[in-house]
Amino acid sequence: MGQALRLAAALLVAAAPLVQAQDANLGRNLAATCANCHGTNGHARADSKPLAGVSAEKILAAIADFKSGAQPATIMHQIAKGYTDDQVKLIAAYFAAQPAAK
Ligand code: HEC
Repeated sequence: MGQALRLAAALLVAAAPLVQAQDANLGRNLAATCANCHGTNGHARADSKPLAGVSAEKILAAIADFKSGAQPATIMHQIAKGYTDDQVKLIAAYFAAQPAAK
């Protein structure tokens, strides 16, 4: 193993606990990028779609359809492409766990 590789490996091992510490809030943090349009914690105002309390399956299916183009959209087809499948799963789980608006 070259010196650079050994250094990279050592850095990765050292960084692992940091990455894990971030993970606890990763879903919430990713979901926050949806708040401009879908409201804080998915509680949308009357002019847009709420995500709070929507099942994770429904959100995952909608994002997949936006990504593939099966569901025509004005903006979500672009947004959906910006997230990996793992990130979308975290986001969907976060919104599904929020109490729906009354
Ligand atoms: C710039 C505004 C904007 C942002 C940011 C945004 N959305 Fe959307 N979203 C929309 C609009 C507008 C629609 C309706 C479809 C369309 O025209 O794109 C929509 C529709 C949806 C739907 C379908 C809801 C339904 O009941 O049909 C889901 C699910 C969704 N968005 C999830 C998300 C998630 C998850 C994020 C964050 C990763 C997000 N959106 C970020 C504007 C936005």
